[in-house]
Amino acid sequence: MHGKLQIMAARQTGLPTVAAKGFNFVTSRTHHEPPRGMLRILLKTGQGTFRSSHASQSLMISNRSSEIPPFLVMEVLEKAYDMEREGENIIHLEVGETDFETPQCIKDACTKALREGKTRYTHSLGLWELREAVARYLLRRYSVDISPHRIVITMGTSPALFLLFSTLLDRGDEIIITNPYYSCYPNMIRFLGGKVVPVNVREEHGYQYQIETLLPKLTKKTKAVLINSPANPTGALLSPQIMREIAAMGHYIISDEIYHGLVYATREHSILEFTNNAFVLGGFSKKYAMTGWRLGYLIVPEKFVRPLQKVQQNFFISANSFVQWAAIAALEEAENDVEIMRKTLNERRLFILQRLRELGFQLRFEPQGAFYVLANAKRFSNDSRSFAFDILSKAKVAVAPGIDFGDNAEGHIRFSYANSLQNIQEAMNRLQRYFAAL
Ligand SMILES: Cc1ncc(COP(=O)(O)O)c(C=O)c1O
Repeated sequence: MHGKLQIMAARQTGLPTVAAKGFNFVTSRTHHEPPRGMLRILLKTGQGTFRSSHASQSLMISNRSSEIPPFLVMEVLEKAYDMEREGENIIHLEVGETDFETPQCIKDACTKALREGKTRYTHSLGLWELREAVARYLLRRYSVDISPHRIVITMGTSPALFLLFSTLLDRGDEIIITNPYYSCYPNMIRFLGGKVVPVNVREEHGYQYQIETLLPKLTKKTKAVLINSPANPTGALLSPQIMREIAAMGHYIISDEIYHGLVYATREHSILEFTNNAFVLGGFSKKYAMTGWRLGYLIVPEKFVRPLQKVQQNFFISANSFVQWAAIAALEEAENDVEIMRKTLNERRLFILQRLRELGFQLRFEPQGAFYVLANAKRFSNDSRSFAFDILSKAKVAVAPGIDFGDNAEGHIRFSYANSLQNIQEAMNRLQRYFAAL
């Protein structure tokens, strides 16, 4: 009836054709989405040809998906994968994933669950047995007594963040975050209609919130203050004193505790030791080397369980059932494995800090947890994005550009030391040759 409708984006780079409802669409596929309204589309119909600046949005792509920025670390990783496919040898220091195998006891528990046919949907809030195991773990580790009813199992910390922000945010509601931040926080908050209120944290303060800079940011619209300790990208650990002070402000706190267990000189604290007015995000990806398994959990005040449950039912139904059974083994049997991984990561941390300093990166702050170093690279470049891609293409070392973590991290490069000592050593040698040739 409509004849053949062809849409040609002005920025044509590798355009796929999508046939839908009798139309043939040719869409733009660029790495960096054009700003809203900039994508000029040529509509060619049987009656003639006309242009529309909004046609892409009105016909197929939502504003929010046009506007969400890419996760730059993934862009570097995916470029590195492309180069590897062409035969290049790349050393990966960009991605937040350890090179360790998932501990055998976890794999065994998963195989057993599969053999026993644990392959169906579970309760949307998660297996009761796992929720109880998380509660026991919290009691052992932090001496906090949390009812399993307040624990919601999710398919990773990222879906937990999505569920939480979906449940908390109405349009214009504010979430306070540090700057530098984990890249996905602001992207998700904005995607779900919230407003991001960044607070600059500084190297000389150990990248910790300072109460005097935090207090003026609180408004009637503040829904929560987000903390992430140990932090991505800085490796900073919040002191118990600052955690207590933030808890005393009386606002809800969102505490992303995904890097708990990977702390080197001291010990981490859960926000639940200081307040129950908190939403805690926990994950299995980092501590148990389970990034590909996709499992995490949320601990929330009781009244938020039901709304979260409804969102989970509609969007995700439940987390993977056999992975949930394996997670019980992670919590109860994998401590020795985690200890070995933690010690190994610490050796890598000390090694990379020394080599980065020798290469000329300025490091006044030493990370205490997670597996990242945010290194000041301003003597080499103020444009971390171009710098990271140049390092990738010339030195064959994949690193993360600071700008991905906020404008306060521009001029920095984030190195992940989750790779083997041998590979880190080779990466540093490659960087040395790269800098010598600059
Ligand atoms: C601070 C932080 N939160 C959440 C996530 C997401 O982790 P998951 O694999 O559990 O989705 C990451 C991953 O890098 C992270 O660094």
